[in-house]
Amino acid sequence: MGVVPTVLVLPCPAQGHVNPMMILSQRLVEKGCNIIFVTPEFIHNKMVSSMGNQGGGDNGRSPIKLVSIPDGLGPDADRNNVRELFDSILKNMPAMLERLIEDLRLKDGVRVSCIVADFVMAWALEIARKIGIRGVLFYPASAAMFALQCSIPKLIEDGIIDSNGLATTQKRFQLSPSILPMDTEFIWWAKISDSKTEKMLFNIILESMKTLESTEWCLCNSTPDLEPGALSFVPKLLPIGPLLRTYGHDQGVSERSLGQFWEEDFSCLNWLDQQPHGSVIYVAFGSTTLFDEKQFKELALGLELTNRPFLWVLRKDSDCNNKVRFPNEFKGTRGKIIEWAPQEKVLSHPAIACFISHCGWNSTLEGLSNGMPFLCWPYYADQFFDKIYICDEWKVGLGFNLDENGMISREEIKVKVDKLLGDENIRFKAREIKKKLMKDIDVGGRSSENLNKFINWLKEVAQHSKSVSVITKFSTHGHRIHMVGKRG
Ligand code: UDX
Repeated sequence: MGVVPTVLVLPCPAQGHVNPMMILSQRLVEKGCNIIFVTPEFIHNKMVSSMGNQGGGDNGRSPIKLVSIPDGLGPDADRNNVRELFDSILKNMPAMLERLIEDLRLKDGVRVSCIVADFVMAWALEIARKIGIRGVLFYPASAAMFALQCSIPKLIEDGIIDSNGLATTQKRFQLSPSILPMDTEFIWWAKISDSKTEKMLFNIILESMKTLESTEWCLCNSTPDLEPGALSFVPKLLPIGPLLRTYGHDQGVSERSLGQFWEEDFSCLNWLDQQPHGSVIYVAFGSTTLFDEKQFKELALGLELTNRPFLWVLRKDSDCNNKVRFPNEFKGTRGKIIEWAPQEKVLSHPAIACFISHCGWNSTLEGLSNGMPFLCWPYYADQFFDKIYICDEWKVGLGFNLDENGMISREEIKVKVDKLLGDENIRFKAREIKKKLMKDIDVGGRSSENLNKFINWLKEVAQHSKSVSVITKFSTHGHRIHMVGKRG
């Protein structure tokens, strides 16, 4: 038996980053790797509590170990404050990570053979280099956004952004003839928050880009079938997407997904079973979107106006400030509202007709992989360009027009739902894309082959670094540990 690679996976502490890296971890486990999935404690706690009593055995042979390390902030700190969080992560986590890897080696004989770090956690590759293990980057958004980052020097030279990464004026530009034109609105790091946070993020990007050259692999959740132009612009990216929880893996209907920050509400699947095929509008805006009260009201009344069944995910976490109230006129009798959905299972349900989405990259890929027509409601960061992809490149969705107050009105919602569902061309295109994506991740498909290539490399590296073949012992050393996962 060959040596089993032990891979330390380090996502950025956000749901849209944890999900694809957890799916990647599961794929690696199916091919015989062990995973140490490291997150700050507050994320670790969310992931563990969302699983209810599923998982959590303390068997040293569990292939995925969720391990927490402190982020350096006090218990009452506001972790929605991205600047404070990242400041503290950058100051505290590198030393903690190094100690964890050393503890594993010295006390448990577990030799980490490779770190796979989220792009914004690229500092971990410096640690990898220092202690003599291999490091790999993972990029969770579209290849087009990566191409945009690679073009930062040119964007500065052309006066499109300043040296802090902020747009000087509203301008259109094109990275290459094979990538759709962009607008300064698509510069995702300048669309996050206040200017200090954006400057910090820009510096993190600049630092991370420096690690790119010395990194053997930069994995991304995409495929040339979706982004031929962007992927040829950045040949360093290895597309292994779409990373899906459900594809080719018999996840039971009520089996919880690993890595979720909220508990999935499975009651919506029974409710969907009772709706006619192709009738339900699925409405979900990812893990961070917040609405102001007026826009929320229009959305609620717009859904009602469509006179169609709808399934609406409305997060009510105490720290998300989603303090919206339903308008009095809202009856909601045709709808079901839940706090967190098993989204991939919902999107693959035959009752779903379309997806009203904020166009986060994961939601975009999950919708495309299920042949969904989209109504695009981007909120921030990369979502604006994902909308352009959906509407203008793949032609599988429509956008909303804003009214004179800058709002999406209830009437506009009804008009666009009717228009989308009456458009056979869009539905045809959506089915065609689904077929291509399924082929990409099927045995012998391009993404599947790329992933195999990467796994073979991991195995060679492990052979070289003499990782232990089975983790039989795993002490806590003060870290919180939770054992999950199963071999495929
Ligand atoms: C963020 C950014 O918005 C996104 O644009 C970026 O590319 C990644 O980080 P987020 O806003 O959370 O992510 O959106 P998205 O990328 O769509 O990720 C959300 C994830 O949560 C998806 O994997 C989706 O399946 C999951 N989800 C969402 C659920 O499981 N249940 C839900 O009810 C809603």
